[in-house]
Amino acid sequence: MKHTDIIDILQSPESFFDKGVTVCGWIRLYRDSKNMAFMALNDGTTLPHLQIVINKSDVTLPEGATRVGSSVKITGKAVKSFNKNQTVEINAEEVTLLGDCPLDYPIQKAKTSLDYLRTLPHLRVRTNTFNAVFRIRSKISAAIHRYFQERNYIYAHTPIITGSDCEGAGKIFQVTTLGYAPGYKSLEEYNAADFFGQSAGLTVSGQLEGEVMAMAFGKIYTFGPTFRAENSNTTRHAAEFWQIEPEVAFAELDDIIEIATEFIKYIIKAVIDECPDELALLERFYEKGLVAKLQKVVDDEFARVDYTEAIEILKKSGKQFVYPVEWGLDLQTEHERYLTDEVFNRPVFVVNYPKDIKSFYMKQNADGKTVAATDLLVPGVGEIIGCSEREADYEKLLSAIKERGMKMSDYENYMDLRKFGSVPHSGFGLGLERILMYVTGMGNIRDTIVFPRAKGELR
Ligand code: 4AD
Ligand code: MG
Repeated sequence: MKHTDIIDILQSPESFFDKGVTVCGWIRLYRDSKNMAFMALNDGTTLPHLQIVINKSDVTLPEGATRVGSSVKITGKAVKSFNKNQTVEINAEEVTLLGDCPLDYPIQKAKTSLDYLRTLPHLRVRTNTFNAVFRIRSKISAAIHRYFQERNYIYAHTPIITGSDCEGAGKIFQVTTLGYAPGYKSLEEYNAADFFGQSAGLTVSGQLEGEVMAMAFGKIYTFGPTFRAENSNTTRHAAEFWQIEPEVAFAELDDIIEIATEFIKYIIKAVIDECPDELALLERFYEKGLVAKLQKVVDDEFARVDYTEAIEILKKSGKQFVYPVEWGLDLQTEHERYLTDEVFNRPVFVVNYPKDIKSFYMKQNADGKTVAATDLLVPGVGEIIGCSEREADYEKLLSAIKERGMKMSDYENYMDLRKFGSVPHSGFGLGLERILMYVTGMGNIRDTIVFPRAKGELR
């Protein structure tokens, strides 16, 4: 079906003036008078609609081509528009109905609640809100690749099915071909009979395999789906989410913090530059001051605070938190939100966490109590990045694995990296949906994923 993308017409209208053109799309608005009819047409290539003008005495309007949601093909002439909000419109010469849309189309209203739209994942993508959110998701993904590709990183594809647990948090989805079978005498016997001859799961992180690649290519990044059987039903956790995990050889904690800062500024600037219409819509309906907030992230320095100091700040806050604040305990969402929203008011790196609440692979600091790890927290969302220098010393890593009672045989390849030409190296994981929440103002992670998966939710 030969036709022109609406974005091409709206972006350079002059080159279309007084020329014949064919466009396809869905009717977003329709109104008519005695002699004239007007359609706002959207084909998904851009947020703004294209205005179609129909002189009813010259053009036959098929039954159904007057209803919101119907899909049509329009052939006509592009002309300069006299309406102050648009530069170009199409004078229709022929209107073809492609697909009728009956009046029970559930998303007719200009603004319908996000809660309601979540029940219609297959149709909500046709609203302005999700047109904006998912185009930003696409643009930021391209910017992420661009950032790394322009700086000599290799894009590494790490496995989805793994036999080891990177984060050690016990949130792994099991992968099995064995059905219900009460006959096995032990877990070992059951696992041995399974497809891989051992237990297998969906990866929670590509980091361990990413480190393998970094020890050959120096700088790599992964960008793919990761899975966590999160039991909590929050607005920030999904069971399936996309993670970007750079891994950098010859880099210590301060180096990776510098990279993470530059990277976040780069991808946010890309969204500001490439998605002005989308941000304006989200600012209008969802978050006042969104664009200024993002511009501040690009312009200002990020804050940095030691975990130990953060605990002091929380203790002195005089706030009544639900969860206890004590050195050695993890920061809960309410603590993170206090630090970002009330103390720093900008992105903040919390560094040097107690080693007992963090993962086995993190570099142990000289104090014997903390690790060279940092989380990047942002106002309104909380943690968007988990980051650390990796333990490059064979003996120290071995003792961390033993202390946690982990199965040594699962990590032999990983340990080999410390045996053969080990180097200081660091990396981080950015949750794509978390940064999208921050950039779009969506308060629920489910509104940044086309088909969100969470506990009890699989549409
Ligand atoms: O802090 P996490 O668990 O770190 C890692 O997985 C490391 N292996 C990363 C690395 O150093 N290569 O997760 C990283 C990020 C979090 O900061 C958060 O943005 C996101 O992944 N994340 C989730 N996003 C949505 N839903 C969930 N259930 C998430 N769990 C983590
Ligand atoms: Mg984390």
